[in-house]
Amino acid sequence: MATTTSIRVLCVDDDPSLLRLWSMGLGAAGMRVHSECESESALRAIDTQAFDVVLCDYRMPGLDGIDVLAHARDKQPDAVCVMISAQSDFDMAMQAVNRVGVFRLLAKPVRIHDLREAIHLAAQSSRLYAENRRLTAALAERNAILEQMNAELEARVAAQAMRAVCTLLHTLGLWSEDHQRDATLTTQLALRLSERMGLDAEHRAAIELGAPLHDIGMLAVPRSLLVYPGSLDPDSEEEVRKHVSMGSLLVRGLGLAQDAQRVVEDHHEHWDGSGYPRGLSGEDIYIGARVVAVCDSYVALRSVGPRRNPVSHSMALLDVKQWSGSRFDPSVVTALCGLSHAEAEAALITLQG
Ligand SMILES: [Fe+2]
Repeated sequence: MATTTSIRVLCVDDDPSLLRLWSMGLGAAGMRVHSECESESALRAIDTQAFDVVLCDYRMPGLDGIDVLAHARDKQPDAVCVMISAQSDFDMAMQAVNRVGVFRLLAKPVRIHDLREAIHLAAQSSRLYAENRRLTAALAERNAILEQMNAELEARVAAQAMRAVCTLLHTLGLWSEDHQRDATLTTQLALRLSERMGLDAEHRAAIELGAPLHDIGMLAVPRSLLVYPGSLDPDSEEEVRKHVSMGSLLVRGLGLAQDAQRVVEDHHEHWDGSGYPRGLSGEDIYIGARVVAVCDSYVALRSVGPRRNPVSHSMALLDVKQWSGSRFDPSVVTALCGLSHAEAEAALITLQG
């Protein structure tokens, strides 16, 4: 609790003799008193010095006491306001309470003993406010750390669950060796590009979770269509396109985080709005999905597939580049083209392996 010697008081009254009296009486109890006899100079004192208690007369030339205390409340929320007045004015009292939440209303003339006691109680209250604020801030900080730890734990559990789902699908023969390989490579490449592009940890986590499952909806597409060697007719094409909505249903069911879901839901949207299923364009397409779309295409070009032979790194880049600004986000294409030779070779070795 506050000792009187550490209490800092601002006394404001337009009567200098009263100020002298209060200063002597409070100073004798060890309080540190600063006096001002004009409202404007009181505001300047509030702006430049810290106080535990602001004591102010109501009736002042210029700004009245309520304005001075309102300023103190704005600038020094932990300072406690005490109003003193010769008037028995109900409206003034109501304003003092409602506008500035005064701690005490004192009537003039006030005995120095009563003034000291009121200031002392006000200072104790000020210290309690400050302590309460400090504890609340510390608690909020601790809660934020706990929330962060919780989010990281949830993300780790979700990532493990996703890996388990992929392994299960593969083990049950529902997901071919090629599919598993392409999904893994797309994820690795997307994570590498997201680092190059400076995406934050949240987006990278969404890619790590969503990219392995971006084509999980293919499970609902007849296998005959997936391995069909020629061009698909429009009806079959439509069937294949349904893998996005099916994938969305599946990952929502798995409880994947929302950004990771959007990797699955937006990976066939096009930068120019010509994609599906929603026809989103530009930055309305989730950034994780824009990265995965480019990587998916690159990996498909480099891999053996039912309707294609693998092409070289430079040929794959040429192919991807021609879609920059139409299918693909140009910034992602630029990041892919900026991959170092070593990184490209690493992708090549993994693909050949
Ligand atoms: Fe897809």
